[in-house]
Amino acid sequence: MSAGCGDSLGLPGQVRILRDEAELASTAAEWIVGLCKGSAAFHVALAGGSTPRRLYERLADPSCQTKVEWSRWHVWFGDERAVPAYDEASNYQMANTSLLQHVAIPARQIHRMPADDPYLDDAAHRYEAELRAGVQPSRGMPRLELVLLGLGDDGHTASLFPGDGATRVTDRACTPSRAAQEPKDRLTLTFPALNAAARVAFLVTGRHKADALRGVTAARVPAARVRPTDGELVWFLDQAAADSMAQRD
Ligand code: 6PG
Repeated sequence: MSAGCGDSLGLPGQVRILRDEAELASTAAEWIVGLCKGSAAFHVALAGGSTPRRLYERLADPSCQTKVEWSRWHVWFGDERAVPAYDEASNYQMANTSLLQHVAIPARQIHRMPADDPYLDDAAHRYEAELRAGVQPSRGMPRLELVLLGLGDDGHTASLFPGDGATRVTDRACTPSRAAQEPKDRLTLTFPALNAAARVAFLVTGRHKADALRGVTAARVPAARVRPTDGELVWFLDQAAADSMAQRD
């Protein structure tokens, strides 16, 4: 079921409300399969956290992965924690175990964000240079075909946290940031990089995201600043998250 352009929830862009996490994962997977069919090179930034795991597992499922020309995929990351690549807290590791090790994306086309580098600012500049070398630009920023994002309870997205300096960076595509919770040191794409994308899709499940979602509609949290300049914004919500917006706790 799709709500209108945010008309029932006040969210910007298109809102798609799915029965539960399983239906959200399968619907979002089908949507992505449709998107990448038309691309000679499909540059996608994966989201971290826990919500996307079911989507990645769905994409890796034989019933889905056979529909995708994986050799066209170029995988980037929206953010990464300052932990070793294979640490259980690593967004790369979550994507690797749920998707990347199960599908035939050429290794050179998987661009891990090097937040395990002790010199995070240098690492951010290196990642930005890799993005700019690999992805067609639009208005001075690399234009990814798709950026997947989650929504933190405090309204952060990627690793753009309320009050952190990274939310004020406008002249870079990637920058170090500080999270409210461990692991605190991060690398993240910036708002200009996120908003240069052709499509941005948020994946949000659970009643506990109510305040963050209300923060988006009230434009008082970082995620509210994700508004693609010349692109599509889509919210995939499960019913629990959608219902929680309507109810005051
Ligand atoms: C991270 C993510 C972060 C995440 C939100 C939601 O590195 O933690 O990039 O932005 O998407 O915190 O996390 P959940 O999906 O676990 O609720």
